[in-house]
Formats: sequence, structure tokens, C-alpha cells
Amino acid sequence: MINLYNKLFLQKHLFNDDSKIKKAIEVNRFANPKIDIDKEVFNIISATEVLKLLDVGCGNGDLLIRFRKEFGFIGELHGIDLSEGILNAAINENKKSKLGIAFRVDDAQTLDYPDDSFDAIVSKNVLYYVPDIQKAVDECHRCLKDGGLFISIIYSKNNQPKLVKLREEVARKLGSKEVLNPQDRLSAETFNKYLENFSKVEARNMQNEIRIGFPKPYIEYFDCMRPHFDPIPNDEQWDQVLNSVKHIIEREIVQKGNFTDKNAFTIFIAKK
Ligand SMILES: C[S@@+](CC[C@H](N)C(=O)[O-])C[C@H]1O[C@@H](n2cnc3c(N)ncnc32)[C@H](O)[C@@H]1O
Repeated sequence: MINLYNKLFLQKHLFNDDSKIKKAIEVNRFANPKIDIDKEVFNIISATEVLKLLDVGCGNGDLLIRFRKEFGFIGELHGIDLSEGILNAAINENKKSKLGIAFRVDDAQTLDYPDDSFDAIVSKNVLYYVPDIQKAVDECHRCLKDGGLFISIIYSKNNQPKLVKLREEVARKLGSKEVLNPQDRLSAETFNKYLENFSKVEARNMQNEIRIGFPKPYIEYFDCMRPHFDPIPNDEQWDQVLNSVKHIIEREIVQKGNFTDKNAFTIFIAKK
């Protein structure tokens, strides 16, 4: 495994601030039909008594902030992430709006919480980047109370096939040693084997389509992927990459009216 999944690389390049997550969320505004994953998670936990919830790899804290501000969740909320930079936006918003959410830097593989701490633990699009996936899942299991829920959102191996192809083409042109494709390491199709310690597992498959009529949001989204290539492209190379991606998107928009790509992921609900 090369440095694309290395802790320092994640902190310094891949998830050094919250801008990349924002762009990814923005591109999802063009998804059809709209799927609000945070709301889906909220509905799942609302069906049981959840007083204390942890978001593992919470990124910019969006899910927890929405839980408090939009969905009116009044229980205890905790969020951890490996990357201090990405937590800044969450910590600032938490302070400004007095949300009472406990954010801290921590590693999913060695959670700094006692056994049986939480009624529910969420992990949205995180585990692909964790070196020891089983260890992280086992830590979530340990920190859950009996009957608690581990809710994880995992891409299908068929998620965003055009993006995967684009990245592979770019990597070939750049002569990259490797390009990051998260679902190559872990996908909805392979996730069940990590959940064997749970008493019951439900998998909800979700699918929609990104449909974009002008290139800008997609180019901004692709722009976040510069550290996905090893070695990281220099400024000149990256300008050329973005230009060629723009042409590909524009061509499809001219030919078909839209650029489309398929989102496919699964919400796993595992009960301790
Ligand atoms: C794709 S982002 C998803 C963030 C957030 N869950 C969301 O859906 O917006 C992946 C997050 O996982 C975090 N991460 C990666 N490895 C981690 C680890 N070992 N422990 C905790 N967080 C980790 C990254 O820093 C990043 O914020």
C-alpha cells in the first residue's frame, strides 16, 4: 500500500481542509433523485432510542451540525476525525452556534472512548482510507452499547464509473504510479465480511444520477482530486488535466444535453 492511504498524507494533502468535502457535497446538488443521506441516518436512529451518537471520520462535521440545527436532535453528539485541518470548520461552527457537539482528533482504529459508550455510531465514506478496516469496525463495535447501531455508508464498486475512467485516463497521461479509487479497497459488495461480530446486518442499496448541464461544478469537483494521483501533479500538469477534463465534459453536454454519472452506495445498519 503506497502513501495514498498514509496517515500523514491524509492529514497533509487529501483531507487537509474542508474545501474538498464542500465541493463533493456541491456536486451532489445535481443528483437525481435527491438522496439526503444525513436525513436517512437520522430517520434510522429516530426509530430507536438514541441518546448518544458518534460520527467516526466526521470531516467538516456537516452531519452532526445538521442533526442539531435542522433535525432537532437533542442527545449527546460526538465527532472524531484524524485530520485536525478538516475539523476546523466544524469546531468554529460549533462554537459560533453553541451546538454543544464534542469534536476531537482521533483515529478510527484506536477510538479514545470506553467500551459500551454509544447508542449509535455513524461512519460516512471513511473506511476506504483506514489502513486496518477490520480494526476500525471492531473499535466501533467495542464502543457501542449492546443493541447499539453501527451505520456505515459505503460506495458500490460501480459508483461513478465515468469518474473512475476519467481518473484512470488522466493517470495514464500523467504516467502516475497509482491513482486513488476508494472503492478498489473497500466497496459495498465486500463490506459484509467486516461485520461478522454484529448480531444483525441490514443493507439498503441506494442509487441516483449526477446530471450536469454546464461543466463548472464538475471541474471544481475534479479539481479536488489532484492529490489522488501519485506523484501529485505540478501546477502546469494540473492545468492541462483540468482543461482536458473540461473538454470531455463539454463534449458530452453538447452531444447529449447533460453530463451524467451514476452514484451507487449502500447504507449498512449493523446491530451489536
Ligand atoms: C470522504 S471524507 C468524509 C467525511 C464525512 N464523513 C462526510 O461524509 O462528509 C473522509 C474522512 O475520513 C477521515 N479519516 C480518514 N482516515 C481516518 C481515520 N483513520 N480515523 C478517523 N478519520 C479518518 C478523513 O480525514 C476525512 O475527513
